[in-house]
Amino acid sequence: MIINETIKTILSRRSVRAYKEEQIKEEELFTILEAGRLSPSGMNRQPWLFTIVQNKEILSKINEACRNSLLKSGNPTMEERAKRPDFSAFYNAPTLIIISGDKGLMTAQYDCTLALGYMFLAAASLNIGSCWVHGITVMLNSEEGKELKKELGIPEGYQIYSSGVFGYKAIEPNCPPKKQLDEIVKIIK
Ligand SMILES: Cc1cc2nc3c(=O)[nH]c(=O)nc-3n(C[C@H](O)[C@H](O)[C@H](O)COP(=O)(O)O)c2cc1C
Repeated sequence: MIINETIKTILSRRSVRAYKEEQIKEEELFTILEAGRLSPSGMNRQPWLFTIVQNKEILSKINEACRNSLLKSGNPTMEERAKRPDFSAFYNAPTLIIISGDKGLMTAQYDCTLALGYMFLAAASLNIGSCWVHGITVMLNSEEGKELKKELGIPEGYQIYSSGVFGYKAIEPNCPPKKQLDEIVKIIK
């Protein structure tokens, strides 16, 4: 196997679920966003809008909306999680990036998902932790999230396709079990 700096970053990136309070630097955020901006998209349509939330009050408002939505989810594990006083839909990370896209475009979901993946890798290369936070996407796309979505300036006709949190790691995560190549690969020659 060939190992270079890019491969090392890809192999070592893990989802981080515990963050320091300290905000990431502007230059680090800019670098992460540039990685998303230059990611591939269907027919190069770049149908995305990157909404970055670093304001503590707004983060707290989003967190409470997620809590309420989980409390009504009907899923006992989720409901238990949401009941905890220290519940954080984003593991107390200081930066949230919400990627929305024009829902009229066929590839918008893939484009927005891939853009967040690029951002995760850029963050990992800078030793910044990240994690996909699906509950935020679900809540903002629901009827209950409509008002909040508007407040965040996400345009009509745009759907949230991916949301991720970023920050300095408080705990270095272990690698969860991963399938081996011989379980998932079929090479046709
Ligand atoms: C579509 C998608 C949804 C995910 N949703 C969540 C989530 O809501 N909360 C969370 O903590 N991690 C979430 N994750 C992260 C996965 O749990 C994680 O990628 C997986 O366990 C593998 O771990 P790794 O990223 O460290 O390799 C999500 C990942 C993807 C791709």
